[in-house]
Amino acid sequence: MQDHERIREPVSAADARPVYSPAARRFHWLTVAFVLAQIPLGLAMTYRGNTLDIWDALTDNLYSAHKLIGFLLLWLMAGRLIYRLLHGAPPDEPSLRWWHKAGSHLVHWLLYGLLLVVPLLGWIGVSLFPAVTIFGLFDLPSLAAPNEDMAKRVLDIHGRLAIVMALLIAVHIAAALYHYLIRKDGVLRRMLPGLK
Ligand code: HEM
Repeated sequence: MQDHERIREPVSAADARPVYSPAARRFHWLTVAFVLAQIPLGLAMTYRGNTLDIWDALTDNLYSAHKLIGFLLLWLMAGRLIYRLLHGAPPDEPSLRWWHKAGSHLVHWLLYGLLLVVPLLGWIGVSLFPAVTIFGLFDLPSLAAPNEDMAKRVLDIHGRLAIVMALLIAVHIAAALYHYLIRKDGVLRRMLPGLK
């Protein structure tokens, strides 16, 4: 029996439907916290560094924070993907049309892919640059020999894919709100923290 099948609250029909396991929900909301920190950090550091050409201690610290959170996010997502492949997800909300289900599965798997590829490209990019130092305290392991031209190309792709990911996240959040506020079904409830 999988974790989510054990979690039932026999209050009403909707409340009795399976939800994501506590571990899956913890992975989800930890990912949200990391990504919500990471996107503004990425925008702030490139605006200060590349656009305003200010390369002071604050810009350095923004880059360090972005590199460190991205590195941790990569391992978090690797663990989350393994957990997902081993434990699966609860069956889809029964009121959904086939195209709702297909659309949500597509967005979820694209997010899994981008949440692995985007931080990995960031790590490869800073290895190539090379700029692997974090807060002047320690270095990330380097994945490639120095090559600044290649680094710029890899980091450009990293940035473009991060924008694609941010757009998908906006679609994902809009869909969650649509289910909660307009369809008033049980989709959002499946992922809420704090369910018994
Ligand atoms: C306030 C923001 C968010 C809300 C309300 C929300 C809500 C949800 C809900 C309700 C589900 C379950 C959908 C279902 O019934 O199958 C879900 C799944 C998922 N969410 Fe979010 N989400 C948010 C932000 C994010 C962000 C920022 C990311 C990624 C960066 C993300 C990635 C995912 C993924 C990958 C799944 C699929 C989980 C699986 O089936 O293994 N979510 N989200």
